[in-house]
Amino acid sequence: METGNKIVILDFGSQYTKLIARRVRELSVYSEILPCDTPADRLRDPLIKGIVLSGGPKSVFDEGALSTAPGFWDLDVPILGICYGLQLMCLNLGGKVESASDREYGPATLELKTDDTALFRGFDKETRVWMSHGDRLQAAPDGFRVVGTSENAPITAMIHEERPLMGIQFHPEVSHTVNGKTLLANFVHGICGCEPVWKMESYIEQTVAEIRERVGDEHVLLGLSGGVDSAVASLLIHKAIGTQLTCVFVDHGLMRKNERRDVEESFHGKFGMDLVSVDASDLFLGKLADIQDPEEKRKIIGRTFVEVFEAEAGKLPYKPKFLGQGTLYPDVIESAHAGGPAQTIKSHHNVGGLPEKMDMKLLEPLRELFKDEVRQVGRILGLPENLVGRHPFPGPGLAVRIIDAVDRESIAMLQEADAIFIDMLREHKLYDDVSQAFAVLLPVKTVGIMGDERTHERVCALRSVNTTDFMTADWSRLPYEFLAQVSARIVNEVAGINRVVLDITSKPPGTIEWE
Ligand code: XMP
Repeated sequence: METGNKIVILDFGSQYTKLIARRVRELSVYSEILPCDTPADRLRDPLIKGIVLSGGPKSVFDEGALSTAPGFWDLDVPILGICYGLQLMCLNLGGKVESASDREYGPATLELKTDDTALFRGFDKETRVWMSHGDRLQAAPDGFRVVGTSENAPITAMIHEERPLMGIQFHPEVSHTVNGKTLLANFVHGICGCEPVWKMESYIEQTVAEIRERVGDEHVLLGLSGGVDSAVASLLIHKAIGTQLTCVFVDHGLMRKNERRDVEESFHGKFGMDLVSVDASDLFLGKLADIQDPEEKRKIIGRTFVEVFEAEAGKLPYKPKFLGQGTLYPDVIESAHAGGPAQTIKSHHNVGGLPEKMDMKLLEPLRELFKDEVRQVGRILGLPENLVGRHPFPGPGLAVRIIDAVDRESIAMLQEADAIFIDMLREHKLYDDVSQAFAVLLPVKTVGIMGDERTHERVCALRSVNTTDFMTADWSRLPYEFLAQVSARIVNEVAGINRVVLDITSKPPGTIEWE
């Protein structure tokens, strides 16, 4: 594939390594993450215009501390060390590193000692930056100039006087560092001279080629959930290997209104995928009858999902070697070797724990990407906008939004109320302003009056939250007039509901879902 110039990021195990790669992509330059000890000869490639050394969780003094390969420091390309990368540069080139008494974590003020460096072009004398380090530099190696300091790290930035070597103690890739993107742009565009020519289309092209090569003549099985991640993963894999991919969509009867139809129309209809769509609602709802405990509901759904999925896989005319998944980078961030060799399946959090005995290799084409990038890929591949920008939906579906045992009547009621809320959010152009919105059906009946008739019907709650990471969330301040219209429509149009309430709880102490 034609990538043009590229930046290599050598990975010392930082949880931010992929974020650096993402920032470089945002600068329209191709980036590649390689192991920290990649042989120097491999890095002597005319397309590699610069190298970034990532941070890392360890100390340079730890036994077996990660390092670069022999000959690395003789390379003649610009090298930027970040945090651990800076400390390694210092130590390997003859400077001194010391263990600081306190670990510094959080915001700090970078004070620049000079305004003539290309790396800090556009910076003020003082800048808020984000630190996360234990060790710090005591003395810069010969030939380096200290260009930035901070309270806890007297050498926060150093630059070689003659060679294109530079290092910083803080993390320019995280959004808390003011001007972090400017610094990376100064390095990538200015110092390394990379042209901003790379596009997301190139990522797709490259990924498709990689999938084709890895899969060969084998087959891939993928569980389609209706969410954006598995949808985009399936499109990428389908683009690569066509009918060697089979998607299985298990309808547990707890989907949103028309969800199964939408999935069938999009994936089978529009994209011509080999889609096995299973209506397993009788099985699921039979097992869930009379179950009220939220955890019990989740367990039953998870187990049954695996049973159905396995049964469908067993009916295929071939044995799939790979299991496709829409795992994103934030999902794998905790695993030590996020980019490492493919593992055999142990657990599968998206669909609730697929058994080891299926013995398939994972194919996760979105492992490098963040959510907004996945959406970008989806749009390029022609995924309809209503699927691309969709709010997340929990695996156990409406079962955790019906606060009681589930039955077909409650499900239908909730689907209608939810569809009204979501449609109206879209109509009022509010859908994209909130992170997740849905209706909840309560196990409470209240008295009301419709026409001349007294009613005694269920209560529906509206839940809408704003969040960036779903770990904490605040309730959305939706306009009163809008809420009034949603409430009126639900009570008028959904038989069985005569009252609508609004959830105004943040997370914590609440959770986003009600169960
Ligand atoms: P909570 O309710 O824990 O939800 O604040 C945080 C986010 O996770 C989603 N969620 C789930 N997703 N299986 C899933 O796939 C589940 O069992 C599950 N429970 C919650 C929830 O919709 C929200 O986006």
